[in-house]
Amino acid sequence: MDAVRPVRDAKAAPALAPVEDYLAELHERVAGLTAGKPADYIPELGKVDPSLFGIALATIDGEVYAAGDANHPFTIQSVSKPFMYGYALDYYGREAVLKHVGVEPTGEAFNSIVLDEVANRPFNPMVNAGAIAVAELMDGASQEKRTANMLALFSSLAGRQLDIDEAVFLSEQSTGHRNRAIAYMMLNTGMIKRDPNHVLDLYFRQCSVNVTARDLAVMAATLANDGANPITGETVFEAQYVRDILTVMNSCGMYDYAGQWSYEVGMPAKSGVSGCIIAVIPGQIGLAVFSPPIDAIGNSVRGIRVCQEISNEFELHAFNNRTNVKSVIRRLYRGDVVRSNRLRTPEERKVLTREGQKIAVLEVQGALFFGSTEQLLRKLTQLASEARYVIVDFKRVHFADASGRKLITRAARSMAEGETELVFASIADDGPLAPLAREFAEHGDERLVRVFSNADAALEWCEDQLLAHSTYDGAGPKFALTQLDLFKGLKPEEYRLVESIVRPLIFEKGEVIIREGADAKLFFVVARGTVSVQIRVQGDRKKRVASIGPGLSFGEMALLDGGKRSADIIADERVICYGLAVEQLQELAAEHPNIMITILGNLTREFSERLRHANDEISALE
Ligand code: DON
Repeated sequence: MDAVRPVRDAKAAPALAPVEDYLAELHERVAGLTAGKPADYIPELGKVDPSLFGIALATIDGEVYAAGDANHPFTIQSVSKPFMYGYALDYYGREAVLKHVGVEPTGEAFNSIVLDEVANRPFNPMVNAGAIAVAELMDGASQEKRTANMLALFSSLAGRQLDIDEAVFLSEQSTGHRNRAIAYMMLNTGMIKRDPNHVLDLYFRQCSVNVTARDLAVMAATLANDGANPITGETVFEAQYVRDILTVMNSCGMYDYAGQWSYEVGMPAKSGVSGCIIAVIPGQIGLAVFSPPIDAIGNSVRGIRVCQEISNEFELHAFNNRTNVKSVIRRLYRGDVVRSNRLRTPEERKVLTREGQKIAVLEVQGALFFGSTEQLLRKLTQLASEARYVIVDFKRVHFADASGRKLITRAARSMAEGETELVFASIADDGPLAPLAREFAEHGDERLVRVFSNADAALEWCEDQLLAHSTYDGAGPKFALTQLDLFKGLKPEEYRLVESIVRPLIFEKGEVIIREGADAKLFFVVARGTVSVQIRVQGDRKKRVASIGPGLSFGEMALLDGGKRSADIIADERVICYGLAVEQLQELAAEHPNIMITILGNLTREFSERLRHANDEISALE
């Protein structure tokens, strides 16, 4: 067996690591910033080495890049707040949680003692008051159970078992009088119901969960990934609540710095007094920085700089426009130039060349949301006045939101009233348009649009409709040898000779007529029904590359080279064929050479026409 050779010599060339290299450079540059000092209002936090500095970036498909002290543990502090809020939303639903905590920024410090007295709830879940109210919502019949549930939540988010830094917990518990004041004020107004000390116990513990920058990046990437942990695949939050979490992070996550942060960095984020910051770019990455020195507001000085630089360097501000609506239509072609894989007789080809313009195929690509789908609809409206059949091929659509799907359904409804038939291809059951496929399937015979598994099958159906509606020589089943193009030009006595060696064969639906790799002894002419030519692609998957109907031959290569079969031929339905043994034909031709000359001449003409058409198609699809 061949040994697997490395692509290149690892010693000769450095490994390609553009993201790591960038993070390492950034780390080195920002390490020069020495402003700020570690929080010490929780005495235990003040003991940290201020020079610790780690950066981590996790992608939504689970790649983690890091620089510096990304594996050094520290307590999560306020970065726990958005996740506890996510837990509450996921557990109780939006409406119930809104009764306990609002979504208004305070523009005040994280530990400010301000409460929304009108709505009788703390302003938002990112300030201490709101976070304490949210901590009360953790499920569990005892303190131990609630702590275990809280730790399980953070462990799921990090993708590994986390623990609590007992020293920091005790330090905060014994000094957190301001938080105690907030909790008692909330008890007084009925914003919390349970014993404040019990609620604070969980709040202090959630702030004391040990994490690393790497963990936080994965937790942020879980938010970027619609609530599913990109490493473990576990769904921690429902996607609808991730939007809520990110919204409050965006408006309230950086306290009284939130406005400027939003202006400069433009990512939903959250900071903690241990010197950590997470930031989320939905659909892309989660970012985490750990550097203990914080500014007067409570945000890590280096953390802010790292996020500013990354945002600017890679244009990650949330309001940068990343969508290219212009490209939703990949190409448009017509049925006169591009044909289905169904082999057609010369008469059929003439009809399709003449009338194929009536079939339009629209290849759509990218993401379907309001703006891009509206463009598609405009194109459909135009085609509805020009074409008899419009095929929309969704093969290259990788995303469709509810508004895109709604607009498509509307278009289908209004087109159903008109003359033009709308045909959809490639809306796979497991793809982004699956809900649409289900909706269309439900309507049974009265369905809005016809749906095919791919554009080729759709095109073949449209061609069949055009052919069925037009009259031309040679339509319908071919029973007599004299009607077959392959034998055109044979003299009557030559026909009779060929006829004497022809065997009529019947194949049932699904039957394999020719198997790839088998010896080629016979060739066939279809009299009735259709067969599919299938080749093997990527392992054992089969791809239909052509279908063949009445009047056309297959397996004719055997006449030319007598080699092995190059594809499977399967009966699509009950098929009647003429089978000719190559050997017998050759024997016959030894005495009557004109038979072979005529047949080979017809074959050559057929092949050259197919090639010419293939060239036209290639140039139309370029
Ligand atoms: O409530 C406190 O004081 C801390 N346990 C959490 C504070 C925190 O991280 C605020 N964020 N900047």
